[in-house]
Amino acid sequence: MSDNTASLNVGGNSYDYAVMDGSVGPQVIDVRKLYANTGMFTYDPGFTSTASCESGLTYIDGDEGVLLHRGYPIGQLAEQSSFMEVSYLLLNGELPSKQELDEFTHTITRHTMVHEQLTTFYRGFRRDAHPMAIMCGVVGALSAFYHDSTDINDPEQRKIASHRLIAKMPTIAAMAYKYSAGQPFVYPRNDLSYTANFLRMTFSVPAEEYIPDPVVVDAMDKIFILHADHEQNASTSTVRLAGSSGANPFACIAAGIACLWGPAHGGANEAALNMLHEIGTVDRIPEYIARAKNKDDPFRLMGFGHRVYKNYDPRATVMQKTAKDVLEKLGVDDPIFDVAKELEQIALNDPYFIEKKLYPNVDFYSGVILSAIGFPTEMFTVLFALARTVGWVAQWNEMISDPAQKIGRPRQLYTGPVQRDYVPVSAR
Ligand code: ACO
Repeated sequence: MSDNTASLNVGGNSYDYAVMDGSVGPQVIDVRKLYANTGMFTYDPGFTSTASCESGLTYIDGDEGVLLHRGYPIGQLAEQSSFMEVSYLLLNGELPSKQELDEFTHTITRHTMVHEQLTTFYRGFRRDAHPMAIMCGVVGALSAFYHDSTDINDPEQRKIASHRLIAKMPTIAAMAYKYSAGQPFVYPRNDLSYTANFLRMTFSVPAEEYIPDPVVVDAMDKIFILHADHEQNASTSTVRLAGSSGANPFACIAAGIACLWGPAHGGANEAALNMLHEIGTVDRIPEYIARAKNKDDPFRLMGFGHRVYKNYDPRATVMQKTAKDVLEKLGVDDPIFDVAKELEQIALNDPYFIEKKLYPNVDFYSGVILSAIGFPTEMFTVLFALARTVGWVAQWNEMISDPAQKIGRPRQLYTGPVQRDYVPVSAR
């Protein structure tokens, strides 16, 4: 708590509110007593000025383009760590020792299989179902298969549910892909790494073994790290809000997946690649830049802009380099990558984008990499959900353990009709 207080004058009365300090970042005014004191609420659609919780997981300085997980910069983690290690870090607060990492990896590896009956659940979906629709359904259904880890008040059950979710998500995601491709499901293999195993479950078929390329495994692992957590974004807040009622973890993560699906959030990488394909060639870029700037045109440059980053998204820097490495290694000469790089340069030098501080976000280049690896666009958001599961789970655990936690219940500014008497239909 800071020594500062914030004073508010309402109707001639003055009220003082404590100002809280974080370890870094903006201070926060504690308005919990505001309604009790003044009979007024705050109005903040989109939560642009509201801290919904206290958290020690992830810090973002959007003006400086900084993203830290438990204090470690995302660039260092993406270049030097692994997704398993970052998962441990997010869940436990510290980097693991070699033994702790081995034990954690062993535990996750041994939870990768899903209940065999879950395969029948997939068969209820149409083959042309969007894989995110399948993800929402199947992850929500996990609570019907793993009752023994749904007691949120038991720390051991919470831990098991967390491990199950992180471990099974690649299997579930690969199965969603296999189902839509009309190919048989592929069981996990425990001798492969988390990421290599996922690629194999996705791309191997009984007729032909898939040997994951180390460059692709490395790129995919980086993509997972870059998406692992991102503070109180829409889907994470959804998970916390769902969890605040005491809902089980599988239901909460399914709610997060549903939120992530939206094009303004996780769906943006799919939308960004579709946009790049629509633009097609470098000479058409000015036309699309003009459309993005036209207030009468709903078109937006997908993969550009961010609620929090008003600077280059640090994840986009790693993503651009990874895209270059993957395309080179796979020998893919994708004209879309040229369109992306040129579009970025033009936008970064355009007064409209400079003034509004619109920079490429993590989704701008990820689609180029994922499509070079062989993923269809519908799978992009699924991959995001897979990687973000650890963040959701870590945030959910943090919330459950927080003594200040309450059921999330925002208030409103009511502008509907005031009380009036019911009129029978015959008299209307
Ligand atoms: N292209 C053109 N103009 C834009 C863009 C864009 N991508 N993004 C924002 N603007 C403009 C808006 O029109 C608005 O202009 P105005 O002030 O003249 O009305 C101004 O910039 C501010 O935009 P808001 O929508 O108010 O900003 P907000 O913080 O609410 O939105 C968002 C952020 C949703 C990410 C937005 O920038 C956007 O729609 N981007 C495209 C979608 C996208 O890439 N989403 C991925 C986000 S990252 C993630 O989820 C992993």
